[in-house]
Amino acid sequence: MADSGVAPVLELTGISKDFSGVSVLRDVRLRLYPGEIHALMGQNGAGKSTLIKVLTGVFPSSGGVMQLGGEAIRPSSPQEAQKLGISTVYQEVNLCPNLSVAENVFAGRYPRRGMAQGYRIDWGTVNRHAEELLARIGLDIDVTRLLSSYSVAVQQMVAIARALGVQSKVLILDEPTSSLDDDEVHKLFEVLRRLRGEGLAIVFVTHFLNQVYALSDRITVLRNGAWVGEWRASELGSQALIAAMLGRELAAQSARPAELPAFDESATALLQAEGMGQAGQLQPMDLRVQAGEIVGLAGLLGAGRTELARLLFGLEAPDRGVLKIDGKTVKFANPVDAIQQGLALCPEERKTDGIVAELSLRENIALALQARLGTRRFLSKAEQTALAERFVAALGIKTTSVETPIGLLSGGNQQKAMIARWLATEPRLLILDEPTRGIDVAAKQEIMEQILKLAQAGMAVLFISSEMSEVVRVAHRIVVLRDRRKVGELPGGASEDDVYEMIAAEHA
Ligand SMILES: Nc1ncnc2c1ncn2[C@@H]1O[C@H](COP(=O)(O)OP(=O)(O)OP(=O)(O)O)[C@@H](O)[C@H]1O
Ligand SMILES: [Mg+2]
Repeated sequence: MADSGVAPVLELTGISKDFSGVSVLRDVRLRLYPGEIHALMGQNGAGKSTLIKVLTGVFPSSGGVMQLGGEAIRPSSPQEAQKLGISTVYQEVNLCPNLSVAENVFAGRYPRRGMAQGYRIDWGTVNRHAEELLARIGLDIDVTRLLSSYSVAVQQMVAIARALGVQSKVLILDEPTSSLDDDEVHKLFEVLRRLRGEGLAIVFVTHFLNQVYALSDRITVLRNGAWVGEWRASELGSQALIAAMLGRELAAQSARPAELPAFDESATALLQAEGMGQAGQLQPMDLRVQAGEIVGLAGLLGAGRTELARLLFGLEAPDRGVLKIDGKTVKFANPVDAIQQGLALCPEERKTDGIVAELSLRENIALALQARLGTRRFLSKAEQTALAERFVAALGIKTTSVETPIGLLSGGNQQKAMIARWLATEPRLLILDEPTRGIDVAAKQEIMEQILKLAQAGMAVLFISSEMSEVVRVAHRIVVLRDRRKVGELPGGASEDDVYEMIAAEHA
């Protein structure tokens, strides 16, 4: 590594990038050594994904030098970068759940038989190659099955196998763990350590600080498009890392807010589900949420939390049980019915269920409120602008204007816009499914504070998060799911271990 006399495999110096005159990267450097895991850190919009895209030829750089193995490179496409030995899994992973694993590994570059066979795809070879590539990262699965039949962790590893070529020297992973639970993160880490052992240099972007310390050897920090520094992970404590990213200290956060918002437990439930379920998706269960109450939904990946949210919000129709709002039975034919009853669901998959990439930030934020108002009243452009600007300020969304197409915002800023869209409807019950995914440490704190404030004002919250510490911190009550079944409830103030124990007890 740095001091052992080994030369860096990849060295970037003086990298700059601007988009139509707006500077996004300035004089950025990055040094990677063979056999290291390097965390690239920074707040939402700091320029991490842009740096990766400049390095891999998605965008041309506006200046600077890139050297691979001591030689200057300037890839003009990800394919070219991959041929040079730089393999990348981008923040927005583009896999096709409805194709087989092997098809996903090879999509677009199938080995074909010769002219005599009319260039037909040679499936035998495709499947065999896919198996070999997956074996390299320790995955032994049936490659002919649909990708969607495997867990997100496996899908994530398929994306890595797809990116990895035989010649790979550098592997770049932009937020690979944002949709994984602890167990799955663990599996992915094993694979990464193994690749590091083979001499690969790995760049790893994440907003989970504990993962940085569990995995990486060195850390580079960007702030606002500029290079802040490079450290050995062992020599930069988490407080110092946060300060480097933010340019200031982060106010310490209490384990649990001294006072969670009070609510009237004897009032008619705002939402009450009785024996509600759907065959194959969710076992019949009861659920009760009061106005002003924050109910946490805990469980591992695939426990049924998202399925429950979708049933409550009219995205799926329950085939048994009853759903009541203010004590009256309701049947939602679609989400618009639910929105009009004052429900909101900020979904887990912002790319497929959330953002409309080509619409502006303004239009994206106004979208759900317009649905709540219905056709009786249309929001004027001025009203939409005022609304959007209010949330840009409240949530610290980083953008040059509310007219910017949302697809051009950084991942974390798109996520903030999704939260803004649903807060804008001023819902009576807000269902948040992994709301802080991809959001930086400081923004996460701000968003949780906003939510607590709204609960104080009477909004009910159903909070789903893989970050058990967050659930435990803010919930009045925790509903625990496992294998698409409710296994119990815990009072607020329960510890993370209590929750894990309840999940495990059920397992035993
Ligand atoms: N194609 C583009 N056109 C204009 N601006 C862009 C484009 N791509 C990125 N930007 C801007 O560059 C800045 C850096 O974005 P980038 O996606 O690199 O941030 P990031 O560090 O990856 O953040 P996150 O943690 O949220 O993923 C943002 O302000 C973003 O809006
Ligand atoms: Mg990014």
